[in-house]
Amino acid sequence: MELQTQRLKLREIVPSDLEDLMETYNNLSLTQYLYLSPYPLTQEETRKFISQFDSEAKQQPRTDYNLGIEFNGKVIGLVQLLSVDKFQETAFLGYSLNESYWRRAIITEAVNEVIKFSFQRLNLRRIDCEIAVENIASKKVAEKLGFSLEGTRIKYRKMKSTGKIHDVYIYGLLNDNKE
Ligand SMILES: CC(C)(COP(=O)(O)OP(=O)(O)OC[C@H]1O[C@@H](n2cnc3c(N)ncnc32)[C@H](O)[C@@H]1OP(=O)(O)O)[C@@H](O)C(=O)NCCC(=O)NCCS
Repeated sequence: MELQTQRLKLREIVPSDLEDLMETYNNLSLTQYLYLSPYPLTQEETRKFISQFDSEAKQQPRTDYNLGIEFNGKVIGLVQLLSVDKFQETAFLGYSLNESYWRRAIITEAVNEVIKFSFQRLNLRRIDCEIAVENIASKKVAEKLGFSLEGTRIKYRKMKSTGKIHDVYIYGLLNDNKE
């Protein structure tokens, strides 16, 4: 699966992306609000993520999309559309970007394309996103993309990287073209 935007290619992760992924994700500023991301990150763990993404890409029907964000030939992040449920017409969204590329509207451009794919090609009616209340950058991104704040789950997630427990905002985006 591949999507193209003005500056970016969104594509499946392959084993040769290992170094780029290590560079991006072995970083506490980035993983502090990603509840499943370990820190520090080892090569072995990164290899496991790559092979998990590969098996998920091959599943039929497919429920999980872990798309690498390729910019100038380098993978600098991921947009993840997970637990796609064709009956409920819902999925969960996650996104993250190499810290050296923050504040250049790259994530907005990448996620916008995945939202289009979700609504137009997968025919979803709703996308969920959960954001730690301290994660100002992600909150801004979600709101810019049109997500609405629907509620807060108290002490909901324990982050793998820090062991800290966070309250989490629940954001939702509805497909205007569906009931
Ligand atoms: C969240 C994240 C992906 C944002 O990436 P980004 O490429 O910097 O985002 P954009 O450049 O598209 O910015 C979108 C908006 O958010 C704003 N923003 C970005 N970072 C911000 C920050 N730290 N503080 C305040 N606003 C911020 C931008 O200014 C922009 O708003 P504007 O258009 O009104 O200026 C990035 O910070 C990241 O990878 N964080 C760690 C992983 C993570 O927390 N992921 C989300 C889990 S829910």
